[in-house]
Amino acid sequence: PGHPKSSHAYLAIDQGTTSSRAILFNQHFEILFTAQQEFPQYYPDNGWVEQDPEELWQSVLNVTTQALQAAKEQQLEVKHLGITNQRETILVWHRQTGKPVYNAIVWQDRRTSAYCRALSKHEASVQQKTGLKLDPYFSASKVRWILDNVEGAAEQAANNQLLFGTVDTFLIWKLTQGLVHATDVTNASRTSLFNIKTLEWDEALLALFDIPRTMLPEVKDCAADFGKTAAGLLPLELSISGVAGDQQAAMIGQGCVTPGSVKATYGTGCFALVNTGTNSDINHTGLLTTIAYTLNGVTHYAVEGSIFVAGAAVQWLRDGLGLIEKAADSEAIASQVSDNHGLVVVPAFTGLGAPHWAPDARGAIFGITRATTANDIVRATLESICFQTHDLLSAMSSGGISPTVLKVDGGMVANEWFCQYLADTLDAPVVRPQIMETTALGAALLAAFQAGDITGLTALATANPCQREFAADTPDSLREKHLAKWQKAVKATLLMAE
Ligand code: G3P
Repeated sequence: PGHPKSSHAYLAIDQGTTSSRAILFNQHFEILFTAQQEFPQYYPDNGWVEQDPEELWQSVLNVTTQALQAAKEQQLEVKHLGITNQRETILVWHRQTGKPVYNAIVWQDRRTSAYCRALSKHEASVQQKTGLKLDPYFSASKVRWILDNVEGAAEQAANNQLLFGTVDTFLIWKLTQGLVHATDVTNASRTSLFNIKTLEWDEALLALFDIPRTMLPEVKDCAADFGKTAAGLLPLELSISGVAGDQQAAMIGQGCVTPGSVKATYGTGCFALVNTGTNSDINHTGLLTTIAYTLNGVTHYAVEGSIFVAGAAVQWLRDGLGLIEKAADSEAIASQVSDNHGLVVVPAFTGLGAPHWAPDARGAIFGITRATTANDIVRATLESICFQTHDLLSAMSSGGISPTVLKVDGGMVANEWFCQYLADTLDAPVVRPQIMETTALGAALLAAFQAGDITGLTALATANPCQREFAADTPDSLREKHLAKWQKAVKATLLMAE
């Protein structure tokens, strides 16, 4: 009595590849507050990508504290937290001291490509159980690398002294100050150790990668009780109620909860996922089969196309080549250039993902003439991301899944030239939602689901309506000409990798 009535909100932590964000959503899932912090990436060797666990954690702690302080100032009641994260990236730390034994090895890291090649005779059985390819992208070979290369790690792991986690697990463990060692099914489905049909860690896969079972977290549904944040750690104490890998969270934030609905998120990479319902049949068209979400004990699956470099290519234009001052400039530049003038960029900086799976491929530019300008390179780089998306969708079609519209999100879709070129390249409508932060929205929706504030998938499907639709508007002949050139360029890039 006497206190102003507070309305309630949900907090989402989105721990992405290059930055951490904390976003407050109100009961209508509108954004009230965002805090964001970038953190450093380390490239110690060709194809290696690492992050410092302490820098990663501090970035999360900072943004979360800022968001909860804002909530307190606005007298919002926040009880439930959803976590979403860069997937496949791994950490290994001491059970007792909490000290990581090595840096986080990031999903983009290719250091285990020879190791994966050596296991290739097991590829079919790994794929049958996990839905994944044998590729350095996934977690298991990275854990193996740490056990093989960090002094004493294998022995400590065998003696039950080390814990493994993807980023969600590490954050839950830090937030609960070591009380909870858990993950959700979507993150587990990216490790190469989890059987996506039985929904259990798989003994044969653990033996194949030689990883002790005792290192692994408990696996839960996406909306579940993941513990409480430790008293005094944050300005408010929260229940960790929702967890999903960022691409799966984006599916929920995009309302892709009916079979056949498909979304593509353009963050550091680009990941296109189509919901395949409760059907767990393994896709064999160069795409992955993965868990979309488990809610109320029911698991939905997805077929995924993964492109390792999307927004990262725009960062490269800015930071590596200095061709643009800020990412947003790429839009005006691309629209100034009337045509690609035969220039093709293949941004295979960390190998090629779906549908080629060539970890040793590296980027290339074809068709440079004396007349080629910086602007041409900018445009061709944006085009390459559209062409790659096209290849994912045509792989989906060849597997009998033919999406009729593509829902898009992520930082790059603020670029309208890009969205239009994407629609033209796909010859299909491209739909941009009102809330482009679909990843965080998905995590907040999962938390609300666990809180009992929303029930059923219909509420998830309608939370984020269309803001703008881009209709395809280019002659078939031109689209086909560009795509044919692109395919040739990819072929040549793959040849160079052999
Ligand atoms: O699989 C990697 C993916 O989860 C990373 O997402 O948004 O950081 O490109 P993003």
